[in-house]
Amino acid sequence: MWAHKRIHGAAPAPVGSGDDPPSSGPTAYAFGRFVLIPERQVLMEHHQPVHLGSRALDILTLLVQRAGALVGKDEILARVWAHSVVEDSNIKVNMAALRRALEGDGSHRAFIATTRGRGYRFVGIVQQIHWTETTALGAGGSLLPRRLPALVSPLVGRHREAAALMDDVEQHRLVSLVGPAGVGKTSLALSVATQLAEHYRHGACLVDLAAVTDPSTVPATVAAALDLSVEGPAALSALCRCLEHQELLLMLDTCDAQVDAAAHCADELLRRCPGLRLLVTCREPLSVSGECVRRLRGLALPRSASRLTTARAMCFPAIRLLLDRAAAHSRGFVLQEGEAGKAAELCRRLDGLPLAIELAATQLVDHGLDGLLQQLDIGLQGLGARRGGPERHRSLDAAQAWGWRHLSAREVRLLMAASALDGDFDVQKAAVMASRPGSGLEALSRPELVGVLSALARKSLLTRDLRDGAPRYRLPETTRAHGHARMAREAREAARPEHPVRPALHEIAGRPHLSAYGLRAVRAGGDAAIID
Ligand SMILES: Nc1ncnc2c1ncn2[C@@H]1O[C@H](COP(=O)(O)OP(=O)(O)O)[C@@H](O)[C@H]1O
Ligand SMILES: [Mg+2]
Repeated sequence: MWAHKRIHGAAPAPVGSGDDPPSSGPTAYAFGRFVLIPERQVLMEHHQPVHLGSRALDILTLLVQRAGALVGKDEILARVWAHSVVEDSNIKVNMAALRRALEGDGSHRAFIATTRGRGYRFVGIVQQIHWTETTALGAGGSLLPRRLPALVSPLVGRHREAAALMDDVEQHRLVSLVGPAGVGKTSLALSVATQLAEHYRHGACLVDLAAVTDPSTVPATVAAALDLSVEGPAALSALCRCLEHQELLLMLDTCDAQVDAAAHCADELLRRCPGLRLLVTCREPLSVSGECVRRLRGLALPRSASRLTTARAMCFPAIRLLLDRAAAHSRGFVLQEGEAGKAAELCRRLDGLPLAIELAATQLVDHGLDGLLQQLDIGLQGLGARRGGPERHRSLDAAQAWGWRHLSAREVRLLMAASALDGDFDVQKAAVMASRPGSGLEALSRPELVGVLSALARKSLLTRDLRDGAPRYRLPETTRAHGHARMAREAREAARPEHPVRPALHEIAGRPHLSAYGLRAVRAGGDAAIID
């Protein structure tokens, strides 16, 4: 593994010039698939030492340190054979050995050019780096970089999805695993990347793009994950140069907030680095050519919760995860016979989302299944509070707020309006909701409305299925609850006498289209602002 790589488009700064990267490891030079470490008298190819004599290594060091410049025979003799008198032929012999090592049987590009009668010039692009002592020794003693974090606990379920994803990664150079926040994209992709890493000469690496706020820094963030450093407007190009000879599986994780920049970066990397494969996780596809898109849905649930036995319930990963995590959180927790249906209902109300299930499980002992279901009637607030992990995974509300980030105003308004509808709905029904005064969508034309619905489905905030050739949309329960809470908060803050959802709530009886969530919220007395 190398650290603080500085990329030079032309010749590297000479050693000791005062321009060296600040690091503790010895200075080294990376070019193509090689790294030369003069202090150790070692040349590595794909992390394996190359057998070369010391004179050949000295010549290579001299040429690499003066990359781009013509180095005369006299200078080579003076520097490499300083205290002995030798024939020119010594240079030729060592140069031939060097060329064999660098160019193989001629199938690789030439790094050293000869100017007849005058000398030699190193013509590759060189990056001055620091070789770190922490270089990881991979399986079998090879120097395979280990850049994937470990999964904290094994996945529950997902066997079929993992097998399919592995096939996809083998067949496509860009695979995007898309789905809502907390559905398990990162976990599944990481599990697959870990299993596939050894098939790639340079292993696999995860780049977390969740915290990137400036799109222009996406290439630098990718580089940093690889212990490289690239800067400025040509950063992407420099990154491509670094990776053009690498065989690497790169996980671009959580691209949600930087879809355009990640798409541009992925497109360029794929075009210029033939040995690279990308496994992307995002709430939406990158929409670049050659992309294989796979949607991840919640963990499997029983179709019906009635007459479900405890033994049967354990066949469903969503329920198994709930009970596993509850038992891990509190020793002795067991599902009572007769409660399997309620556990299934809880998982359904949480859309089978592993994150939501994990958070709820930590409160199962305190509240019981009935208590949690009642709490969900009122909203997501108060569900889950854990310390570790990213902020967006600490509570259900935080996960939803993250999922709603970077939506357009129209998309937010539509989600809020649709949170008053129960079950699935078609464009017609959405149009009725949108036309309600105060929805904020009154001015939307039908094609614009369809556009907003499509964008929300693409971003995994709505599910879309075709029925009789026409799309039907559905809000996941957790999204609906969040939308409803936002609507209620807005009404409260604006102290509005009327709100689009309010007339509907006043007419609960005989209005089957009204969201069961809204209905439960009213019955539970959870939102005084709406009920009046
Ligand atoms: N199949 C699974 N089995 C057990 N836990 C899971 C599974 N999938 C996800 N998780 C857990 O759920 C949480 C969210 O998963 P994550 O992969 O980060 O979701 P996403 O990337 O879609 O936002 C994490 O704490 C993770 O450990
Ligand atoms: Mg993720």
